[in-house]
Amino acid sequence: MKVAIVGASGAVGQEFLRVLDERNFPVDELLLFGSSRSAGRKYTFRDKEIEVKLLQHNDDFKGVDIAFTSAGAGTSKEFADTITKYGAVMIDNSSAFRMDADIPLVVPEVNPEDALNRPRGIIANPNCTTIQMVVALKAIENLTHIKRVHVSTYQAASGAGAAAMDELYEQYRQVLAGEPVTVEKFAYQLAFNLIPQIDVFTDNGYTKEEMKMYNETRKIMHSDVKVSATCVRVPALRSHSESIWIETERPVSVEEARKAFAEGEGLVLMDNPEKKEYPMPLFLAGKDPVYVGRIRKDLTNENGLTFWIVGDQIKKGAALNAVQIAEYLIKVKNIG
Ligand SMILES: NC(=O)c1ccc[n+]([C@@H]2O[C@H](COP(=O)([O-])OP(=O)(O)OC[C@H]3O[C@@H](n4cnc5c(N)ncnc54)[C@H](OP(=O)(O)O)[C@@H]3O)[C@@H](O)[C@H]2O)c1
Repeated sequence: MKVAIVGASGAVGQEFLRVLDERNFPVDELLLFGSSRSAGRKYTFRDKEIEVKLLQHNDDFKGVDIAFTSAGAGTSKEFADTITKYGAVMIDNSSAFRMDADIPLVVPEVNPEDALNRPRGIIANPNCTTIQMVVALKAIENLTHIKRVHVSTYQAASGAGAAAMDELYEQYRQVLAGEPVTVEKFAYQLAFNLIPQIDVFTDNGYTKEEMKMYNETRKIMHSDVKVSATCVRVPALRSHSESIWIETERPVSVEEARKAFAEGEGLVLMDNPEKKEYPMPLFLAGKDPVYVGRIRKDLTNENGLTFWIVGDQIKKGAALNAVQIAEYLIKVKNIG
């Protein structure tokens, strides 16, 4: 495979290099792209140094089989035609195309076949919080239809990119040193704080991030499920956590849910209250699966169930999910 990574210097771009290597992805040639800020920089992939090329409107994507793009929605929109014009499949991490009717939005554990119908040569990777939530929801949806979801997210700093993660480190250092705190990547100081806003507000009072969880979940799951979300930035470095409440068509017992999560694709059950075992972001950064714990019956609704999930949002929430889509296309001989 001739593979390209657009946004190679970023948090997700760097994760692509690790995930492709870790999974032994069949790469014959790898091209890296960035803006003028990182063009010329070199990164090592499988003992070989590769120089970042400047992303331009030219023929650099001729012969490329798969392009993993993670350079923001504006870049994806501007360069989609350049990237796909010679037949490269563009697997895009940004929000640029996710809700377009002719662009599949894919989580391989849930709707892999949607990736086969891509009239524009583009497959969208969902929002990171949505990816990890639908992997867990699928295990229950297999038992009985989920009618509604209430979710509160606890999203790590690195969800806002590599520079945001550096800013959190720096803020902690500044606070402890008694220095003025630098605030650039977030609306407020995040160190020692929580910020109940991710992305901009929309007309209904929900943020764009919260509306992504509503709309993308329905598209991926082909479902009429309703999702009400509150998305919060927390001063964790990496891995998003979510407190999820669902209402199902028929009651699901805790035992039944535990079994479904334990057997669910892409999931690990970590639910042992007596031993204080439950998923936590500090300990699950860099892991592939979505971890589920704190499974309880809802006390106010017979058809309600509540649980807690943690997933590495740079990995399963971005790079890993995209690579798994590519692996699926290879497996069903739909590419290459
Ligand atoms: N971080 C996450 O957890 C996460 C999860 C899911 C999806 N995403 C999405 O993935 C994308 C990247 O996020 P990130 O966290 O990796 O951000 P990041 O760390 O800020 O990296 C952004 C990358 O985009 C590149 N870039 C920006 N403008 C460009 C241009 N005009 N031409 C070429 N490259 C350009 C940057 O290259 P230079 O260094 O050269 O500027 C850099 O490599 C975003 O769309 C984000 O929404 C992120």
